[in-house]
Formats: sequence, structure tokens, C-alpha cells
Amino acid sequence: MTEDDLDRNRRHFLAVATAVTGIAGAGLAAIPFISSLKPSARAQALGAPVEVPIGSIEPGEMVRVLWRGRLVFVLRRTDEMLSLLDENTEVLRDPNSEVVEQQPEYAANGTRSVRPEYLIVEGSCTHIGCATLEEFDVRPAEGWGGGFFCPCHGSKLDLAGRVHKGVPAPTNLRVPPYRFVRDDLILSCQDMGAA
Ligand code: FES
Repeated sequence: MTEDDLDRNRRHFLAVATAVTGIAGAGLAAIPFISSLKPSARAQALGAPVEVPIGSIEPGEMVRVLWRGRLVFVLRRTDEMLSLLDENTEVLRDPNSEVVEQQPEYAANGTRSVRPEYLIVEGSCTHIGCATLEEFDVRPAEGWGGGFFCPCHGSKLDLAGRVHKGVPAPTNLRVPPYRFVRDDLILSCQDMGAA
């Protein structure tokens, strides 16, 4: 798809939903899902791409996006968050993203992303699909290095959506296909290939 195509398509899509976080231990109730514009139901059914303006996302903040009926998190990680990804990887079930179905090839790396500071993952727990909650604070005394938590059955995931061992979720959170278009946009759509 060319940039001209994207410009044309841009008029038909979009949407974003913003719920900024960074708040330790906050849940869905505390951080409402705010939808500004949504693609039509028909467009969604057809798998319309979704554009996310990322220029206003501050380090440590996250927005929620609805894409093809699925909840997608866009987290702008801080340098500290990124540094935590290399710590305590022994507690993770698939630290190297070897389950190939869970991410495009271009996100099968140490940060599970195209641009390390931006994590893009589906928010649904891979156990039976509950929405995970962000818990970005680090609580060493509890062995918590920051990440996501599923309240349904207690699955824990790190700041790259990598699942801990010994929890019900079998795999890491899924990374949807996406690419960056210009500096302030993410386009999430059907297999766009590497960005
Ligand atoms: S749905 Fe997440 S742990 Fe069961």
C-alpha cells in the first residue's frame, strides 16, 4: 500500500481511543476507554486499518485503541521500562517470542516492537480473553517488575506483554500487524509487513 493509498484510506478510518495511564495499579474503571471517532461497523467488519496519532503520548503513558473489534494497547515505554525488559527473564515462559503466532516477525525481538519505545499489543489475555490491566509500577518486594495483570485468573505479563510462568495464560499477548507511517502515526491493519 502506498502513502497515497493511505491518505485516501485515512478519510475512511479511524479512531482512537484515549485513555492515558501511567498510574500504578489503575484499572479499567479508573481509566475509562474514551472513543473519539470510530470506523463504521461495516468498515470494522472489513478490517479497516486504524490510525493512531502517537505524537501526544508521553513517555510512560498508554492509549487504548479499538481495531477490528479488538482492544489494542499502545504504550510509550520510558527508558526505565525498557531497561526492565532484560531483568528477571527467567520468570517468563516465552522471553524470546518463540511462539510465532503471537507476533509478526518484525516484532519477534527483545522489545516485541518495531520502535522499542512503543509497545503495541492486543489487550486480551491469552487464557480466555479477559481484558488485562496495566500495572506499571515496580514492586520488588512482591516480585513485580511492572507490566500487565489479568484479574480473571491472575495471569501476569511484563512490559512487553510476555507472560510469566505458572499462570493460566499460555502465551504472550498478541502483537497485531502494524507499521509506522511518518513520525506521528501508527497504522494498524492487515499484514502491512515490516515497517
Ligand atoms: S482470562 Fe486471563 S487469566 Fe484467565
